[in-house]
Amino acid sequence: MIQMKPVELDGTRRRLSACHDIGDLRATARRLIPRPVFDYVDGGADEELSMAANGRALRRWRFRPRALANVTAVDTTARVLDRVQPLPLVLAPTGYTRMMHPAGEIGAARSAQRHGLAYTLSTMATTTIEAVAHAAQPDLWFQLYILKDRGLTKELVDRAATAGYRVLVVTVDTTVTGHRTRDARNGLVIPPELTVRTLASIATRPGYWTRMLRHDAIDFANFAGHVGITIQDTGTKFSPTISWDDIAELRARWPGKLVIKGPLTPADALRAVTAGADGVQLSNHGGRQLDRVVPPVELIASVRDAVGPEVSVLLDSGVRHGADIAVALALGADACAIGRAYLYGLMAGGEEGVDKALDILGAQFARTLQLLGVRSVSELRAGGRELLVPP
Ligand code: FNR
Repeated sequence: MIQMKPVELDGTRRRLSACHDIGDLRATARRLIPRPVFDYVDGGADEELSMAANGRALRRWRFRPRALANVTAVDTTARVLDRVQPLPLVLAPTGYTRMMHPAGEIGAARSAQRHGLAYTLSTMATTTIEAVAHAAQPDLWFQLYILKDRGLTKELVDRAATAGYRVLVVTVDTTVTGHRTRDARNGLVIPPELTVRTLASIATRPGYWTRMLRHDAIDFANFAGHVGITIQDTGTKFSPTISWDDIAELRARWPGKLVIKGPLTPADALRAVTAGADGVQLSNHGGRQLDRVVPPVELIASVRDAVGPEVSVLLDSGVRHGADIAVALALGADACAIGRAYLYGLMAGGEEGVDKALDILGAQFARTLQLLGVRSVSELRAGGRELLVPP
């Protein structure tokens, strides 16, 4: 007998159950979230050439599957910086996360914990280092922007160590903030201010504003007194004088694992390792910094050759599908990190939306391995380029 599926009365669940890939989460977020906030997440630097190229570069590769490999049981577990996770995936640091949804950093960290994945808290977070560590216990990583105020920089590092963060991720591609054209056009201010435009968006996105008004005001939780500035202004806090000496100093100070996020040449990746890094995160900041910069996926093979098999190589920028993760690993990466993919989920449905994004990527990755005729992440890594047809 044909039975009607019961109607889901919870609006968030109903919306999320209609999402079948990251693109659906993005479309849902776009409908629900005021344009300046959505654009802050969705947009990139200048003409957004890097942002567009990131996706294209990952999706150009074609698979060459193995037939009849008995793929009943597929093992997607992977070692990420010496810790085994159910998937080779990490949540990348994103600033101002409570502006997307009040669940914010804690919601994303709890979802990461439920999925056994690492979560990276940004220097520009809207929840404190301590509050996240108190509320959620995933494998916690802390992302550092080296600030002009070196005293404050050291304080942040020490606070992260005391709060139990395991990995320090130092971002090196943000000596000045990229020019996010959409933010400039939208006049984005943090916290969002009441302007004529905001009032208009309250009329069309009432759910967002009701939620925001019921929760604590948004601020840069890890610094005091930096509210009411534009996103462009935040860049004035970052130090353009950073050098490899800063990395040496951080290496000496930080007791845990160290990752350098944003080197984009094999020589810089090697230099990071020589300076004491345990891993590199190949990234162009999701196309939000230097426009026209090379898509990081194109560097995986040469960086892997330069740093050797032992160093952790992570990749971010453009990952929207489990098959993207499979491509990156076949090319020699150990894991991928995602920014927008989980933020679309957060905007579409708070913590449950992040769950949905991670579930989607996990299922896609497992299915991709099975259809490729590969039974585990180590088989995928061993198969490498044999499983791919070059673009
Ligand atoms: C970021 N990213 C980022 N990186 C970082 O080191 N510190 C930060 O505070 C932020 N903030 C931030 C905010 C938003 C809204 C986005 C989308 C991204 C970059 C992020 O860590 C990661 O490198 C990219 O998001 C990866 O690209 P995809 O996955 O978004 O395509």
